[in-house]
Amino acid sequence: MNRWRDLYCGEVSRERVGETLSVSGWVGRRRDHGGLIFIDLRDHTGIVQLVINPERALEAAKVAHDIRSEFVVHARGEVVRRAPEAVNPNVPTGEVEIQVDELEIVARSEPLPFQLDDEGVEEPVRLRYRYLDLRRDRMQRNLRLSATVIAAIRRSMEALMLLPTVAWERPAGLLDFAPRLGELWSSAFMIGRIGHTFLFGIIAATAAFGIAGSAVAQEGDPKEGAEVFKKCRACHDVGPDAKNKVGPVLNDIVGRKAGTIEGFAYSEANKTGGGKGLTWTEDVLFKYLENPLAFMPGTKMAFAGLKDPQDRKDLIAFLKQHTKK
Ligand code: HEC
Repeated sequence: MNRWRDLYCGEVSRERVGETLSVSGWVGRRRDHGGLIFIDLRDHTGIVQLVINPERALEAAKVAHDIRSEFVVHARGEVVRRAPEAVNPNVPTGEVEIQVDELEIVARSEPLPFQLDDEGVEEPVRLRYRYLDLRRDRMQRNLRLSATVIAAIRRSMEALMLLPTVAWERPAGLLDFAPRLGELWSSAFMIGRIGHTFLFGIIAATAAFGIAGSAVAQEGDPKEGAEVFKKCRACHDVGPDAKNKVGPVLNDIVGRKAGTIEGFAYSEANKTGGGKGLTWTEDVLFKYLENPLAFMPGTKMAFAGLKDPQDRKDLIAFLKQHTKK
């Protein structure tokens, strides 16, 4: 391909056995085993194992002795099949390794403040050395996933001829800030003659980058929510003359403390809000309604849950209409 490589690390596959190739990347780990030196070399595509045998390449072995984690190196050698007992089924390149003939240190690294594969590193340290943190597999996966998701959103929004503005928030943050952000942005765009905009929230279920398991959700529609509420009607009532049925009245439920409707015989679990003194915020309802029993073990609400996030959003928008401000 160029001076640095014929292939990326993650591309060195079984089909290449017998070829002499050059690769470059960061050193993950270096291990010495009875004269042989093993190096995990990685780039943005994956990892490949280098083997340096002093009997095959003495100069390369000398260079390899100096190599530490996060050095950038360039290697040239022959792709060979690994011995059956050395095959690593967990990595795509796990059936092969490169028997190195030439090895060159491109850039050295200072001793590291933490090992990249150590999961127990505290947040402040990782944030301070963000450039190292970002090299970890997990961060790489998350970044790539978020890029794909955002690209998909932009494409569909462009198809609708809307100008994309993408908001990143965690669930609580999003719900707190979205209306105000929306206003600010809208006015800025109106003044800026850009016209209609949309505010799109990506609800990241885990941490800021923890997109895995996230839902891309739109604002709830109370009309749709009224339809969804038919599933609750057998047990719950809302509206001016609502009465307790099998379940408590759901007027003013958004923002109300759990288990506080007078005269309703709650289970212990619901009464104490699962022992946590729970308040039914939109966020909490969103999670609870997905699977009530899992969220609140011991509840006597016999309802399997609403799997579709949009149904839950719509339903909550509907319930909000029955909530006094
Ligand atoms: C089969 C009857 C039944 C259905 C269907 C049902 N619920 Fe319930 N719900 C209950 C009962 C009973 C309770 C009280 C639970 C307890 O005390 O453990 C309850 C409790 C609740 C609570 C807690 C109220 C409070 O005051 O703390 C909410 C919120 C709720 N249900 C919402 C819903 C929504 C929304 C739906 C429709 C998607 C629904 N439920 C469907 C029976 C039902």
